Amino acid sequence: MKIAIMGAMLEEVEPFLELSEHEPLLKYFKKYNDIEYGGNTYHEAKYKDHEIILGYSKIGKVNSTLTAATMIEKFGAEILLFTGVAGGVNPKLKIGDLIAATQLCQHDLDITAFGHPHGYVPEGAVYVKPSANLLHIAKEVADEKNIDLIGGIIATGDQFVADESRKEWIKNTFDADAIEMEGAAVAVVCDAFDIPFFIMRSISDTADEGAVEDFDEFLKHSSQRSSSFVISMLDKI
Ligand code: ADE
Repeated sequence: MKIAIMGAMLEEVEPFLELSEHEPLLKYFKKYNDIEYGGNTYHEAKYKDHEIILGYSKIGKVNSTLTAATMIEKFGAEILLFTGVAGGVNPKLKIGDLIAATQLCQHDLDITAFGHPHGYVPEGAVYVKPSANLLHIAKEVADEKNIDLIGGIIATGDQFVADESRKEWIKNTFDADAIEMEGAAVAVVCDAFDIPFFIMRSISDTADEGAVEDFDEFLKHSSQRSSSFVISMLDKI
């Protein structure tokens, strides 16, 4: 199986790479090739019987769309796993907690002027759903590791939310549990190409006025938690 593992920022995939200051998760990987393509670096690796294509897209919906499509169309990924951090919206989610997206939507997609709901464009859908099988595997991993994994709605937009009123609006409009800047774009790409996907995020902040400081403080630690979880899933795929 060829598996894409992607994040948005270097820090989010760094735990997989040898340059990590953490115990490198890539010690489990046989890293054999780095490829520059379309302004990004893709790492080809092997993990047990799997071929891995690993990389980060840079922040935002356009960049993550490019990377997800490249991993599928150029590198032949058959499954895509996203790992990274998010702002918590559901008050149950504390910094460091893990959320697996059960649905994803774009909170900044707006043609409501034409009478459509927020997040909808014709021939699309407000919510895109990840693979039920990968969610099931995630649940198994969480049970084995005694991790309280929350499944929930992730809202994506080209906006770092550090504002209580915007956060509340997104929460109420989309019933969102967490906010980030790539997941729904990756979901749309995978859905279009019929590639099973999974979006995992660890909470780095709570998308309010303290979000910038929290993000800077917890980005690395939360990225590590998300990456560790994703690598555990590989054994079950
Ligand atoms: N990723 C992590 N925290 C975020 C936030 N508050 N807004 C958007 N994306 C994020």
